[in-house]
Amino acid sequence: MTIDARLERLVISSPDVERVAKFYVDAFGYCAEMHGDEARCEAPGRSLWIRSGRVNQLLESRFVFANSAALDCYIERLEKRRITFTRQYGESGISIRIQDPDDRSVCFAVNVESRPVASGGAGEKHFARLQHYAVRTPVPQVLLDFYANSLGFTVSDLVRDQAGDLTAAFLRSDAEHHSLAIFRAAEPRFDHFSCETQDWHSLRDWADLMARRSVHLAWGIGRHGPGNDTFFMVLDPDCNLAEISSDLEQCAPERAVGSWDHRMETLNQWGVAIMRS
Ligand SMILES: [Fe+2]
Repeated sequence: MTIDARLERLVISSPDVERVAKFYVDAFGYCAEMHGDEARCEAPGRSLWIRSGRVNQLLESRFVFANSAALDCYIERLEKRRITFTRQYGESGISIRIQDPDDRSVCFAVNVESRPVASGGAGEKHFARLQHYAVRTPVPQVLLDFYANSLGFTVSDLVRDQAGDLTAAFLRSDAEHHSLAIFRAAEPRFDHFSCETQDWHSLRDWADLMARRSVHLAWGIGRHGPGNDTFFMVLDPDCNLAEISSDLEQCAPERAVGSWDHRMETLNQWGVAIMRS
């Protein structure tokens, strides 16, 4: 059984907040509002906040439960496991915050009605909802243990090299194949985030939109092995990868953990892949 929470928002840092925010407004149709040194980029179904700071860092991921009873149940589960967290009280009620082993914040809150998003941009005609994110870390087993054993995420697929060392892990927090992916790499950093669109044809329409906006595809169109989703990725001005995906695997509760070899065809069944290690 999964914890049944979905990804709602990411907060990343950048040395040039306004430039990166402008990219997401122009290319992906977000509406951006500045709050001090933070750009809050919002579109229907997706939320990306960019805060002044180091390049390529994920500061926070925020997951939401369907209601306060589900959050209370999750808090009880963490307390039983003696997991350290802090409570916060805000406009939308209580939320909790936990630091992962690479010092990123993970927040859990209750889903509230989406606030109105200003009209305009690609967000209206080209729908895609924030679905998953990925981070890089030198020893993925450490993050895997934390998210699976401490936070209760469910392991969907693992990738190992010829020596048997873990090179990637895909974990889910609801029925969708992964809300978090972890890749082995030399340095801890943000890797990418993905917004899931309705179907294959919508993915094509997004790619056409990128072309009209003179944004080159950096990877894809391809099909991932783990998750079986079709996708493309582009690079933002900080060289973070932003992904549009479709047709991600829906996992049955009894689904066994998948095992994959560390090779290009695992990350892209159609051939060329960005290998992080
Ligand atoms: Fe992805």
